[in-house]
Amino acid sequence: MSAVFEVVNLRKSFGGLAVTNDVSISMQPGDRVALIGPNGAGKTTFVNLVTGNLAPDSGEVRLGGEIATKIDAAGRVKRGLVRSFQVTRLFQDMTPAEHVALAILQRDGRATRMFGNFLAMPAVMAEVTGMLNTLGLGGLMHRKVSEIAYGQQRLLEIAVAMALKPKVLLLDEPAAGVPQSDTGRIEQALAELPADLAVLMIEHDMDLVFRFAKRVIVLAAGAIIFDGSPADVTKDAGVRAAYLGSYANASHAA
Ligand SMILES: Nc1ncnc2c1ncn2[C@@H]1O[C@H](COP(=O)(O)OP(=O)(O)OP(=O)(O)O)[C@@H](O)[C@H]1O
Ligand SMILES: [Mg+2]
Repeated sequence: MSAVFEVVNLRKSFGGLAVTNDVSISMQPGDRVALIGPNGAGKTTFVNLVTGNLAPDSGEVRLGGEIATKIDAAGRVKRGLVRSFQVTRLFQDMTPAEHVALAILQRDGRATRMFGNFLAMPAVMAEVTGMLNTLGLGGLMHRKVSEIAYGQQRLLEIAVAMALKPKVLLLDEPAAGVPQSDTGRIEQALAELPADLAVLMIEHDMDLVFRFAKRVIVLAAGAIIFDGSPADVTKDAGVRAAYLGSYANASHAA
């Protein structure tokens, strides 16, 4: 199968610090990858580089075989590369319905002047309602974002990302800041993502990582130190030293 997404020898330094140090990753349709590593390892920077929010010093990003390095962030979204942010970037005064409708209209390349009328557009509203119901947000669709719980805001971000119909979805800590009581709904949303979508999730909660991922990539000081199965990652001496020591010991003690 051909890669839907590929980065080759990606490098980025801030000042003298190599934050992305010769990173190469290839993803297939249907992949479920967790990208883990210590704080400051370069995980978010990696996402910023592949989405076009940040320019690499060298290396290449390929989307469906096409070299994307010179395509801007909006162009990459059009080609199916969609990300969510570590901290929500929702508009506090807008409603969930408006967020999802805007994503649908953007995806379909329709003029933004039509946005004001989306409530009167049955096809758009049907898709908005379906998407928000799937994520358990149907009852909140016309509330302001500022009035809904943080866990629900994170679910809304997943809804917005999905409305863009991605081929590759990059999630930067989708459960961060969400109370433990609400993480189950996010996990369920992740489990219900389309089977052929390639998903890369950055996450610190190792229990969530092990339930979600079929492949784990470990980044430490900007470089990949492990790329393999969840079963092997806890056994890897380098990973234990750099990141997982306490988790692996706790799992073995249990
Ligand atoms: N715009 C920037 N300018 C200078 N240094 C930066 C910039 N962005 C990130 N860095 C540095 O790059 C390193 C990697 O940061 P990054 O945010 O990618 O880490 P991370 O793995 O996502 O960490 P966390 O798990 O805490 O989210 C850090 O040392 C950070 O301070
Ligand atoms: Mg980060």
